[in-house]
Amino acid sequence: MFELSRRLEFSAAHRLWCDRLSDDENRRLYGPCANLHGHNYVLDVTVRGDVDPVTGMVMDLNVIAQVLDEVLFRAIDHRNLESDVPWLAGKVTTAENVVAAMWEQLRPHLGPGLHRMRLYESPQNFVDYSGPGAA
Ligand code: NI
Repeated sequence: MFELSRRLEFSAAHRLWCDRLSDDENRRLYGPCANLHGHNYVLDVTVRGDVDPVTGMVMDLNVIAQVLDEVLFRAIDHRNLESDVPWLAGKVTTAENVVAAMWEQLRPHLGPGLHRMRLYESPQNFVDYSGPGAA
């Protein structure tokens, strides 16, 4: 069994803010992250499977790259995650919520091989997610 990964880098702005909490509670909970700021995000998308004996590949990396560009990059790069990305509207844009929403977007395009997504908000902070239907 193989795990094959493709990396996508993008830059986006966001703030951590929950509408169900008061202004004071938000400021206390999220600190400086409650202010609008940006990240250079790194997303690693991993598919899992056996090597096709004919092609020698688990999956065509060019296909994965194209899907990442069309489904994610064009929607999120140099955007405000709260106001510019319809599938993040109303969510607290923590790395956890962002990567889960990305899974929902990608899963129909990448098929049953999708195994794991790792989203780096910074070199120090990252989250791993395997959502519904993970291989
Ligand atoms: Ni942030």
